[in-house]
Order: sequence, then structure tokens, then C-alpha cells
Amino acid sequence: MQTLTLTRPDDFHLHLRDGAAMRDALPWSARQFARAIIMPNLKPPVVRLQQALDYRDRILAALPAGSDFTPLMTLYLTDDTTPEMVEEARTSGVVHAFKLYPAGATTNSDSGVTELKRIYPALEAMQRVGMPLLIHGEVTDPDVDVFDREAVFIDRHLVALHRAFPELKIVLEHITTAHAAAYVREASELDAQGVPRLAATITAHHLLHNRNAMFRGGLRPHYYCLPVLKRETHRQALLDAATSGDPRFFLGTDSAPHARNTKETACGCAGCFTAANALELYCAAFEQRDALQRLDDFASRFGAAFYGLPRNSGTLTLERSAWDVPAMLPYADAEIVPLHAGEVMEWRLAAAG
Ligand code: NCD
Ligand code: ZN
Repeated sequence: MQTLTLTRPDDFHLHLRDGAAMRDALPWSARQFARAIIMPNLKPPVVRLQQALDYRDRILAALPAGSDFTPLMTLYLTDDTTPEMVEEARTSGVVHAFKLYPAGATTNSDSGVTELKRIYPALEAMQRVGMPLLIHGEVTDPDVDVFDREAVFIDRHLVALHRAFPELKIVLEHITTAHAAAYVREASELDAQGVPRLAATITAHHLLHNRNAMFRGGLRPHYYCLPVLKRETHRQALLDAATSGDPRFFLGTDSAPHARNTKETACGCAGCFTAANALELYCAAFEQRDALQRLDDFASRFGAAFYGLPRNSGTLTLERSAWDVPAMLPYADAEIVPLHAGEVMEWRLAAAG
């Protein structure tokens, strides 16, 4: 295969940040994706509808001329999210999901939920109005090994939550383990249209790398993200899930930009910046399984079906043509290091239309 034409894809998990950082991050996503689910973990977090409306306006104002990129907004769940806030968000038509960060789990999650029981009234309302719940599925218990936090979250919390709210639409975000893939496959029934209630997004970096990548010849901060990369058996299970043609698994880059100096430091931020070469990275992953023909469903169909959105019109074409990923890109008043910086990529974005 020398070229690959996809329906214009969507990114169902994206961090755009705000201000000057957003102005530099956004064009990369708008170049490749028609729509993206925008994460609400700003400082302060996007908790109320009005904040989401304002953030959306700032994103639209920062788009390159001629871009028709659509930001799909989310709200950040806190202990104080009420059923009325859920209903108001649903009525707005602008908010497409609520995001659950266990308090302290990751970047800017201090205002996250301290105990799931506290948000049961909000979850009940989300189930009733058909508002999806997006979960950062890691326990924050410091006694739990960092590599086990996803599996423990599923066993301690997600199984019970899914049983308590069987009709609630749930996305387990950026899954990293065989355990998560198996749970989503087994626990999630498809409806008459073949759409799952419980689904998972998978990043390109978790499909391409195992945890050795963080330690190859020394400490490699640009491979540090949360949930952290896992061992090779898990990566293989994620590749199985992503390339299986199962509608429970779809694309979410979790592109999480952090300036170079906040990654290359004594206590570096978690997050891989993949927006600049997202589809090229997914092509490399799918090619490992000789499954490029499955990328269109994963990138352009299953996620839209889950969210009840129409498929995009237009296409995105990639060609097999080697290129070097830049060592750095401009980012606010500093620079950012994209994933695979300085390395050769086999696939190149050719055209969008
Ligand atoms: C994300 C960020 O930087 O906002 N970081 C990451 O490692 N993925 C937060 C998140 O999604 O966990
Ligand atoms: Zn994220």
C-alpha cells in the first residue's frame, strides 16, 4: 500500500490548553482532524457550562483561517456537579461529555472527584439524558504500584459503577493494559445498531511503545505520560483491540502538550505531544499488524457512532514517503518536543479535503 485515504478522522481525547499554548497546539489538530473531544483540565478546570462556552469561543477564534475544525466540549466533574448542571449541559448541545478525574490522578486534576458515591446523583442524570462519562481510570492510592493503577481502578471502581449505571455511556480513556481491553470487550454489550455502551480510546503512543521506551539508554521524559506506558504484553493486547474491527475501541490521541523545559526537568510533567504527527503514528502502529485497512473504522467511524455524531464528509490522505520529525516546534514563548522527534516516519500526511 502506497497511499491510504480515510474519511476525515476525529480525535476523541485531546488536550488543547489555553492562551498562547493553545494557539500553537490547535493548528496541528485542525490540520488532521475534523472534530475533537476537548479535555477540560485547564487551570482552573472547565466545570460550568459558561466556562465551556467561553473556552469554545477562544478555540474557534484561534483556528487558522478557513479551518472548519469543530471542538466538542466537555465538563470536568467535581464532587459538586449537580444533576441540574448535567441537564443544562445536555440542553446546550455544546457539551458532549463529562470527564471524571479521580482527584490527583494526573495533570491539573486537583479538583477531581474524591469519592465516586458523591457524584452518583450526577451520574444518574447523565444516564437519564444520555450524556457520556469519560473516565481517567487510575486509582490514586499511593500504596498501589503506578503500573497497576489502571487494573486496580477497573476492579475496585469501574465494575461496580458500570453495574450501578448499566445504561450510562462510558469511555474508559487511553487504555494501557490487556486487563482494560478484555474488560471493555467482555462487559460492553452492543445495541441493535452495533453501538457499544462502554467503549475505550487508545492512543498512538500506547500502541507503539512499551515502558522500555522511557529508559532506552537513559531517562526519556518525552515518553512519560499517564497512564504510564506498560510492558510489551499489554502493548500487544492494545494492538489486538485497535486492529480487531471491534467498535468498542476508537481513536483518542491524548495529545498532551507540555513545554520542553517542563518535561526535561527534575519533576517532569506527564504527557506526550502527538498532535503534530498523529495519523502518521497510528499508521505506523496499524502497519505492524498489516491492518491499515482497519484504520478508517478506528479513526473515522466507531467514535462518531458512539457519540451519536454523523460521519464526517471529506477525506484525509496519507502516503508512504519518509520524512524527519522536527526536533522541536514552537510552543507559546518556548518550544515543544513532538513524539518521535528527530526520527524518520514512513507515512506522511498528503492531503486533506
Ligand atoms: C494529560 C495532561 O497533560 O493534561 N497528561 C497525560 O499524561 N496524559 C492528562 C491526562 O490525560 O492524564
Ligand atoms: Zn488526557
